[in-house]
Amino acid sequence: MGKRHFKVWRGDEDGGDLQDYQVEVNEGEVVLDIIHRLQATEAPDLACRWNCKAGKCGSCSMEINGMPRLSCMTRMSTFEETETVTVTPLRTFPVIRDLVTDVSFNYEKARETPAFAPPADLAPGEYRMKQVDVERSQEFRKCIECFLCQNTCHVVRDHEENKKAFAGPRYFIRAAELDMHPLDDRSDRKEYAQQAQGLGYCNITKCCTEVCPEHIKITDNGIIPMKERVVDRRYDPLVWLGSKIFRR
Ligand code: SF4
Ligand code: F3S
Ligand code: FES
Repeated sequence: MGKRHFKVWRGDEDGGDLQDYQVEVNEGEVVLDIIHRLQATEAPDLACRWNCKAGKCGSCSMEINGMPRLSCMTRMSTFEETETVTVTPLRTFPVIRDLVTDVSFNYEKARETPAFAPPADLAPGEYRMKQVDVERSQEFRKCIECFLCQNTCHVVRDHEENKKAFAGPRYFIRAAELDMHPLDDRSDRKEYAQQAQGLGYCNITKCCTEVCPEHIKITDNGIIPMKERVVDRRYDPLVWLGSKIFRR
């Protein structure tokens, strides 16, 4: 296929800019192959995070021509032969160096989410649930924690100030998964999503769903059902009365 024009962001937390490279591209290659070729030739110190090269570890997230994507799953054949391919780090997280960002925001939000709480009288191995319940939450278990959805959501993308109050789509589906789990003993997942995770900031733009490499229906199957249930609980007079009487 010959040489192609690439622009790659180089720099660190103090700043940086796009640098031009002409790189050999071969049939069947993906963007991560090109990054590796650059590292093997004229840019040996180019920093990039990756691991599996199979779309399963979630490490190689970056922005390619402005779109948040996994670089190991983005084929060079998706671009025109004459098109410049611009590669930049995820915008929502602080840059460490070149294409590597500090994604610890996500780990903090993960730690804040209360863990699965099985009934106290059930020992591991005694858990039983219906297949239909397994299937309902299984979709969310496909998440590879690439954080492309977190990076894309406009609530935090250019709004550092919202990060404290907003857990983001990846953790909304974690809450939804636990909410759907018949053996989870916590009854307050919906309220938690609303009060602690900042579910109310989400205005259902669905950009998170569009970039998910696992094709998880984040908005339709996770966020919207959680929002509906929060609304049900708050505005249904019977639910409201019940919550006062039984202090749920
Ligand atoms: Fe990545 Fe999808 Fe998981 Fe978000 S929900 S972290 S886009 S796999
Ligand atoms: Fe953000 Fe997804 Fe909601 S992109 S606004 S969390 S639908
Ligand atoms: Fe693992 Fe790309 S290297 S998802």
